[in-house]
Amino acid sequence: MLFRCQPGYELHLERELRPLGLVMSDNGGGWLQTPDASGAPADLCFAHSALPSSVEITGESVNALAARIADFFLESARSERFEGEWPLSFDCAGNLDGLGRRADAVEKAFCELLRKRMSRVARLAAPGFRAPGAQRGLFVCLTDFQRALVSRERISYGQRRMADDPLAPSRSYLKVEEAYGIIGREPAPGETVIDLGAAPGGWSYSAAKRGARVVAVDNGPLKAGALDNPLITHLQQDAFRFDPVAAQGRAADWLFCDLVEDPHHVLENILLPWLERRWCQRYIVNLKFGRVDPAALLKEARARIPSARIRHLYHDREEFTLVG
Ligand SMILES: C[S@@+](CC[C@H](N)C(=O)[O-])C[C@H]1O[C@@H](n2cnc3c(N)ncnc32)[C@H](O)[C@@H]1O
Repeated sequence: MLFRCQPGYELHLERELRPLGLVMSDNGGGWLQTPDASGAPADLCFAHSALPSSVEITGESVNALAARIADFFLESARSERFEGEWPLSFDCAGNLDGLGRRADAVEKAFCELLRKRMSRVARLAAPGFRAPGAQRGLFVCLTDFQRALVSRERISYGQRRMADDPLAPSRSYLKVEEAYGIIGREPAPGETVIDLGAAPGGWSYSAAKRGARVVAVDNGPLKAGALDNPLITHLQQDAFRFDPVAAQGRAADWLFCDLVEDPHHVLENILLPWLERRWCQRYIVNLKFGRVDPAALLKEARARIPSARIRHLYHDREEFTLVG
């Protein structure tokens, strides 16, 4: 089975998979392989996707690789009916210069072959298709210039690259935008959001942009689209002492929390008490693991809040995000 993750986080993923009996046999930039097991785990943090039953296909040239991938696809699709769009994905390991261009060239050559041999199926291919959960299609990952790992199935854990907004005050904005896809909901007009550790205001701006009312708690200044925003109230207070019922007379619809603080402290003294006191309906909380053991933190977070979905987002760095 092939797992994809953010390049540089393969060993974090390896430590997450090991207790599940999945032992790494090979890895590279942004990918990790295990001998095939019964199925891909339904919930993982560091994996962005899993390709079960992936096969290795090699070819010296672009055309040779494309031809062998086409043979594999046509053989496996022989008795399959294609009624609508199906996902087609070609990508590559993240550590070799020029491999992305190679993957594009192999995809182009593959699509030409497919058009010649199965024109209707080729027309239904949807290269950008990406939804959480299991999909059937064709998924190709070039691990070097002559080698691809190829599967007909993909389990996606929900991470995806988001588009920036010129008014967003920080790159952090992209994390909360991505987290909405994991939770399956976004703040809505009339809802209230408490944003702890809000400055310079990327998360607050994202919620205000959707018409929600935001209380942004941080000693630092708000900037760009969050500054003087009529839907955002800025309070220069300590996040650990903030009580939404005392401040606004009622619990919040959303808790956002992106504090640069010890993650155990955030878990123990913000998220858990907020959930116990029912101070929020939904939450998006980012825990920074730069100075702690990420595997131990993940285990603790899962044990303390079993219902949380925890993901190392596409836009996360030394941190992961809990939503629920
Ligand atoms: C990574 S930044 C938040 C970025 C923000 N989510 C955005 O989208 O722009 C972390 C923030 O946590 C704030 N912070 C750290 N400890 C805090 C505390 N005890 N109370 C309030 N804010 C705190 C820092 O001032 C800093 O602005």
